[in-house]
Parts: sequence; C-alpha cells; structure tokens
Amino acid sequence: MLNTSNRGDCMVTRISGFYKNSPEERLEIIAKQLNLSTEEKNTLLGNAGLSVNVADHMVENAIGSFPIPLGIAVNFKVNEKDAFVPMATEEPSVIAAASNAAKQSAKGFFTSYTGSIMRGQIQLTNVIDPYGALARIYENKEEILHRCNAQDPTLVSLGGGAKDLDVHVIDGVAEKMVVTHLLVDTKDAMGANAVNTMAEAVAPFIEKITGGKAILRILSNLADQRIVRARGVFENPFSGDKNVQEKFIRAAELAEADPYRAATHNKGIMNGITAVALATGNDTRAVEAGAHAYAAITGRYRPLSHWEIGEDDSMIGSIELPMPVGLVGGVTASHPVAKVAIKILDVESVEELAGIIASVGLAQNFAALKALAGEGIQEGHMKLHARNIAMQLGAKNDEMDKVVELAMKQGKISYDKIKEILLSLQKNNSNH
Ligand code: MEV
Repeated sequence: MLNTSNRGDCMVTRISGFYKNSPEERLEIIAKQLNLSTEEKNTLLGNAGLSVNVADHMVENAIGSFPIPLGIAVNFKVNEKDAFVPMATEEPSVIAAASNAAKQSAKGFFTSYTGSIMRGQIQLTNVIDPYGALARIYENKEEILHRCNAQDPTLVSLGGGAKDLDVHVIDGVAEKMVVTHLLVDTKDAMGANAVNTMAEAVAPFIEKITGGKAILRILSNLADQRIVRARGVFENPFSGDKNVQEKFIRAAELAEADPYRAATHNKGIMNGITAVALATGNDTRAVEAGAHAYAAITGRYRPLSHWEIGEDDSMIGSIELPMPVGLVGGVTASHPVAKVAIKILDVESVEELAGIIASVGLAQNFAALKALAGEGIQEGHMKLHARNIAMQLGAKNDEMDKVVELAMKQGKISYDKIKEILLSLQKNNSNH
C-alpha cells in the first residue's frame, strides 16, 4: 500500500448517497477521513481561497480571481487504493458521471506510467551539412547532457535530469533544419521550466558544433515518453441487455473510424482529465495539447480509449495518453485550493497522480458511452438545466427537487415554465 499519511487507516471512498448531503456535510465527510484543518476547510469553502495578492504574483494585471465549482468524485479505487478525486469544472453531470461510473467497477482501475520524460526541442537553421551536423550532435551527446544537467543540480540529485538525445532532420520550405530533442526526466515536476532552461543553455554549444543558428528552444507538448495507461473493468453494466451492450461497442467503434466522432469521444474523456488537472493546479492546456497530438500520432485523429467485451458481459476499457502533470513547483505548490486538493487526493508521486487522472478520463468515457447507448444524455442534462434555472429564480433547497420533478414530468424546461412551477409551488405552500 502506498501513502497513508493524510488519512485514517481505513479510508472509504465508496459512499452511497454522497450527493444527497449538503456541501458542508460532504466537506465534513472528506475532512474527517483526510484530517483537513479548519483553515483547509475554509479554503475549500471559498472563505479563504485565492487572495488577489497571490493572484497578483501568478499573473500580470491581476484584478481578482475566477472561481470554478470544486467537487469530489467518489467511489474511485486506483491500484487497490481508494481515492477521493477533486474535480474543478463548470460543466454539470461530469462529477456525477465519474462517480457513478467508478461505482460500476468493483475492482477499480489499474494503471502504469512510463516515467516523466519530457522533450525539449532546439531548432537549428542555416546548417550546411544537416546529416553531418546530426552525427556531430550525437558524437557530443555526453557533453550536451552534462551541460544541460549543470542547469539543475536539484533535479539531478533526485535522479532526474537530461538522459538522452534524439536528433531529427526536418524538411522546411527553404532548407533542411536540424532539430535536437533533449529527453529530460522531470520526476515529480511538470518540468516545463527545467526543460526550457536546459534548451536555452545548451543551444550555443550545439550552434558551435554544427555551425547552425538556433531559433526555437522550447519543450514539446507532445509528451510521447510520458505516457500513462489505465484499465478498468465494469462488471455487467447493462444487466445482461445485449442490445445496449452492442450499441455501446458500436458507438466506441465510430470513434475509431471517424475523426468527427473521435473529437467528441475524446472531449468527454477530457471533461474528467482537465477537471482533475485544474483542481490540482496543473497546466490543463499542456495536458490537452499532449492528449490531442497523441490522438493523431498515427496520422489520423483517433480515440484515446478502447472498449472490449470481457467475461460475464463485463466491459473492459483502456486508455493511453501523455500526462505531463506535476506535484511540485508551479501552481500546485502556490495555489491554496490546489494544495488542499492534492492533500485530498493523497498521492505521493506523479505516477500515482497520473494514474488517477487517466482513470477518471476512462470512467468519464464509460459514463458518456453508456448514457449515449442507452437513454441519451439529455434527460440528465435537462434535470441539471432545470435545477440551474430554479436556482437563478431563488428556489430554496427544499423546493428544488419538487420543482425539477414537476418540470421533468411536464416535459418542458424553460425559464418561464420553471418560474410558473415555482410560483405555484410557493403559493400552495403558503396556503397550507
Ligand atoms: C459532453 O461534454 C461530452 C459528451 O459529448 C462526450 C461523448 O459524446 O462521448 C457527452
């Protein structure tokens, strides 16, 4: 068993009816299991979140902050370890769908990680002999790596640093360019700063040995050596209904064959992945760029996940994508909410974090395909839409469920209809 530092020995994340509690009650449940302090609870409740002072240190011209709902996906078990998963998203249904899907996988998810190798690119132009230059770069590999590693002794002391090179000759419009890839193990950091610093520092030496002129010196977001894989088995999720099972498989198949569908399929996966990446203070754009570039790595845009039918009508899902996320440095270390989110996740390594994030993506994909193959997703969405309108109209907590139920029964979700239902409910209540 990995880390149990934050929590009691028997943390249980399979909590039925978690959603029925109030936000404060839910927070208490989580806080108890993870020993959150009063200050940490206040941070999550928004009473002491991201101050403008911290925001001002994070970005330029800060005038405030932009809050996004933070929820917890329950029922997750990843590599035999229970996890509460913080998700920051403005999209209704996402957290419920992830929790629901995770509940349908009794054994949970199993993951693997290739390690945190990021690529840094150094682009050289004006090279007289591009293939000769390529050879000279490899001849000087040890010196190049040494110069890179001199930039980050801390990373090296942790077992990370520049490990290898990969040199490409690329056809440009006007000339052949020589592009050196630095392969850097960034360990538990996302690593953009470390890689960019190395690329800039070593570029003059590469210019010297090749006679070329360096232009770009920057990491690549196609992190194809930082791959996470997750697998989940969902036990008989269609209660033996072969018809829905068949539709599920056909729906997944369309994503394999059709980029128009693959984009939406992957968008559903990223609903979960981006939400956890954001909650933990990670660079969501880096994760998204990597995911979509990897989805197209064969030359055609494809789904990031695959679905197969296993024994006893189980559905076996698997997912594979780059996961350039970090646990140290950057916003993960400075954003007060991200810090508490990481404490809730209770992970000690990027490998663990990456595995949980990929599992959430797979769960999200399962939930979307199941809904699409079954009743469709609009019913659930319309309920949340009705709830949102009722909230805008000032419906109280005890009125909310009734208003949504009546609106769904009448089959019409519009601002005017919800208003009419709410007013008549309030009138009835005041008459009693
Ligand atoms: C909506 O945000 C995501 C879905 O469109 C994903 C999918 O279609 O697989 C429901």
